[in-house]
Amino acid sequence: MTGDQVTAETVSSLLGDRELIVASNRQPYSHVREDGEITVTRPAGGLTSALDPVMQSAGGTWVAWGSGNADFDVTDENGSVRVPPESPAYDLRRVELDEERVEGYYYGYSNQVLWPICHVYPSKMNTETTFWNHYRRANRAFADAIADEATEESLIWFQDYHLGVAPRMVREKCPDAFCMQFWHIPWPSWDAFQACPQYERLLDGLLANDLLGFHTERYCQNFLDCAAMLPGTRVDRATRSVVYEGRRTFVRPFPLGIDADGRRELATSKDATTFWREFRREHELGEAVAVGVERLDYTKGIPERLTALERFWDQHPEWRGEFTYVQKASESRTQIDAYRELQAEVEDEVDRINDRFGTDEWTPIVYLNEHLPKEGLAALYREADLCIVSARRDGMNLVAKEFVASQVEDSGVLLLSELAGADEELGDEAVSVHPHDTKGFVDAIERALSLPESDRERRMHGLRKQVHSNDVYAWMNTQFRTIEAIQRGREVASKSLRRQ
Ligand code: F6P
Repeated sequence: MTGDQVTAETVSSLLGDRELIVASNRQPYSHVREDGEITVTRPAGGLTSALDPVMQSAGGTWVAWGSGNADFDVTDENGSVRVPPESPAYDLRRVELDEERVEGYYYGYSNQVLWPICHVYPSKMNTETTFWNHYRRANRAFADAIADEATEESLIWFQDYHLGVAPRMVREKCPDAFCMQFWHIPWPSWDAFQACPQYERLLDGLLANDLLGFHTERYCQNFLDCAAMLPGTRVDRATRSVVYEGRRTFVRPFPLGIDADGRRELATSKDATTFWREFRREHELGEAVAVGVERLDYTKGIPERLTALERFWDQHPEWRGEFTYVQKASESRTQIDAYRELQAEVEDEVDRINDRFGTDEWTPIVYLNEHLPKEGLAALYREADLCIVSARRDGMNLVAKEFVASQVEDSGVLLLSELAGADEELGDEAVSVHPHDTKGFVDAIERALSLPESDRERRMHGLRKQVHSNDVYAWMNTQFRTIEAIQRGREVASKSLRRQ
């Protein structure tokens, strides 16, 4: 039995008679028209691919923004289509948002207000006042679609920061449905969160949930601190819950994992081996290879990493010709200036460093911005001696976990930022780096490259254990078991109230 079967079944049994409604900005399937033909694509998000098997087993409805150009050509009058296309198992209900709304809600409020605030980048915040209105209206469109699908028996599971006020809107129409939300990015301290002009509205929206999940204990504590500043709340630290408007919201850490077995399988595939053989032939790599994999986002700390690498080759000439860094970078949110500027900066820096140190036989930095097949990525992770995750701030960071699960041969070393959420779980066995401490970063690269094999193996063993035991299926199960416990607690409380 595979991990996803176990979980999907467990989730189905935990659901009982309740119907599951998942709501997220991104959809699991998208219909796209190309040269007159409609094809189905699966956006490559970790979350969408992890929840899809559960939905396939449990059934129910997934509400998401219909972003594909043929999405509404295949839906019924409610915007719904049965998916997966090859063996329909659940409803995907698409929310239609026009271009202006997407600009204001997704590129605007979600990614130029909430994203910088939660990652503690007030300088990147755009205070354009129309964004909030678009965010609210988009959340209203989601809420209307959800309420249309929901009954009092539904279990509604909101995902992420795009849907901060939708729970309150849904709650008004479905007072007894169980609502929960998982916040996939950091939750900052009150000092940082207060920079958000709509902080009261957001807290009010989120506190319409029965259960709120974050990646780490620290984010939970930050949230409780913020909730305490909202007039009318009572924060109960002992039970980690907030009482507000007559309801109690439980706040819990659920560190997100990956499909670790799936990653291991990919890394051992023949296609991964073929990819790596070709890759080595095509590029002038050193004996030792490090890898970094990310969206081109200013929170990921790529320029700081390039600075550390340049200083490393500068101070350690013995590693020139011997050590190559491979950067897999994907374009992201390119309608936003800060993202386009970052992309140009990173590409210029890579060219400059390669011009400075590169030779005919050796390229210091191999920069990949094209699509990589999943087996190709698995090969890079498998063969890398180091994986560098030096985010300036990151909710969790699943790349660190993907690297670990793909390390099926010689043990590599994980260099991990102490500012990534993953540090709480993986920090002890990783080599820690601070993205802004260039000297410490250079020393860490040197140290990681020189670690004795027994040390590397010991560390990787501990990391593997953690990544496999706390995979994405464990993440889901823990949340569903928590819901069960909350509901049991409520039943007991209401019985004893009736007895009084
Ligand atoms: O980390 C938060 C997150 O929303 C992830 O769920 C997602 O994979 C990533 O950011 C990129 O998001 P998007 O391309 O949808 O803006």
